[in-house]
Amino acid sequence: MNVFKTITYHNGVTVPTIGYGTYKTPYESTSDAVYEALRLGYRHIDTAAYYGNEKAVGEGVRRAMKDFGIHREEISVATKVWNTDRGYEKTLAAFQKSMENLDLGYIDLYLIHWPANTLRYGDEAKAINASTWKAMEYCYLLGQTKAIGVSNFLPHHLEELSETANVAPMVDQIEFHPGWAQTDVVEYCYACDIIPEAWSPMARSGAFDNETIVALAQKYQVSPAQLCLRWVLQHGLRPIPKSVTPSRMAENLDVYDFEIDEEDMAAIDALKNCGGSCHNPDTLDIY
Ligand SMILES: NC(=O)c1ccc[n+]([C@@H]2O[C@H](COP(=O)([O-])OP(=O)(O)OC[C@H]3O[C@@H](n4cnc5c(N)ncnc54)[C@H](OP(=O)(O)O)[C@@H]3O)[C@@H](O)[C@H]2O)c1
Repeated sequence: MNVFKTITYHNGVTVPTIGYGTYKTPYESTSDAVYEALRLGYRHIDTAAYYGNEKAVGEGVRRAMKDFGIHREEISVATKVWNTDRGYEKTLAAFQKSMENLDLGYIDLYLIHWPANTLRYGDEAKAINASTWKAMEYCYLLGQTKAIGVSNFLPHHLEELSETANVAPMVDQIEFHPGWAQTDVVEYCYACDIIPEAWSPMARSGAFDNETIVALAQKYQVSPAQLCLRWVLQHGLRPIPKSVTPSRMAENLDVYDFEIDEEDMAAIDALKNCGGSCHNPDTLDIY
C-alpha cells in the first residue's frame, strides 16, 4: 500500500499529507502549540474563523518561521468561512478578516466550513452555496488564497456546486475515523479530483478504548492514535490530527513505518460507535 507524504491538488499545489488541527485549542495555548508543531515538522496547519484562534495561529507561524528559518512558501495554512458568513459579500468580508487575523500575506487553503442545507434553507440552499463559492473563486483568482475547497460537503452538494462553479474545489474536509468511514464521499472526491481530508481522524480520542483498535495497535506495536491515522492514510485521505501535547504531536507524524494488512483494514472498516461527532450535514440544524 503506497502512502504518500505529500499530495498535489488539481491546481498543482503540493502540500504535506498530514496536517495539524487546532479546533478546541484554547486561544492562549494556540501560538505555542503551532510553534511546536512546526518545530516537530508539521507544515500544514488547519484552523477556522469559528475556532477563534486565527490570530494566535498566525503568531505561532511567524515565530516559527523566524526561529527555525522556515520560508512562508514551505508552510500551508488552511482556514474556513463560517456558516453565518455565507453568501458573496459576507464571504469576501470574512476572507479579508481571516487574512487580517492570520497576517501571513496570503492564505493557502480557504474552505466553506459547512454547506447550507435544505433542512434550514429549503430551496435557497443551493444558491447560497453557489454564491459563497463565487466569492471563494474571486479570492483564489486574485491570488489571495492558493487553493479553495469545501468541508462537510456530500456528493450531492458537490454535484450542485459543479453546476455553477468555474473552479472545482481542491479539497473536501469531512469527518472520517473508525466508526464513521464516509467511503462514498471519498470515492466521489477521487472521481472528481478533489483531495479528501479527514477531520477528527481519531474520533477525538473516542477510538482509543475500542477493543479492536487496542488489539490491532498491540499487533502492529504502535499506539491506537497511530493505528487510526495509518488507517485514514491507507484509505487515501489526508488526516489533520489535533494535539497540544508535544509527545503526541510527534507520535502522530510517525506513521509511515508500518502497514495495516487488508484483513485488519476491513476489521477497522467494520467498527461502529467509536465516538466522534458523526454529523450528517443534511440533517444537522446549525445555521
Ligand atoms: N471541518 C470541520 O467541520 C471540522 C470539525 C472538527 C475538526 N476539524 C479539524 O480537524 C482537526 C482534528 O479533529 P479533532 O480535533 O476534532 O479530533 P482528533 O484530532 O481526532 O482528536 C483530538 C484529541 O485526541 C487527543 N490526541 C491526539 N493525539 C493523541 C495521541 N497520539 N494519543 C492520545 N491522545 C491523542 C487530543 O488530546 P491533546 O490535545 O490533549 O493531546 C485531543 O483530545 C481539528 O483540530 C480541526 O482542525 C474540522
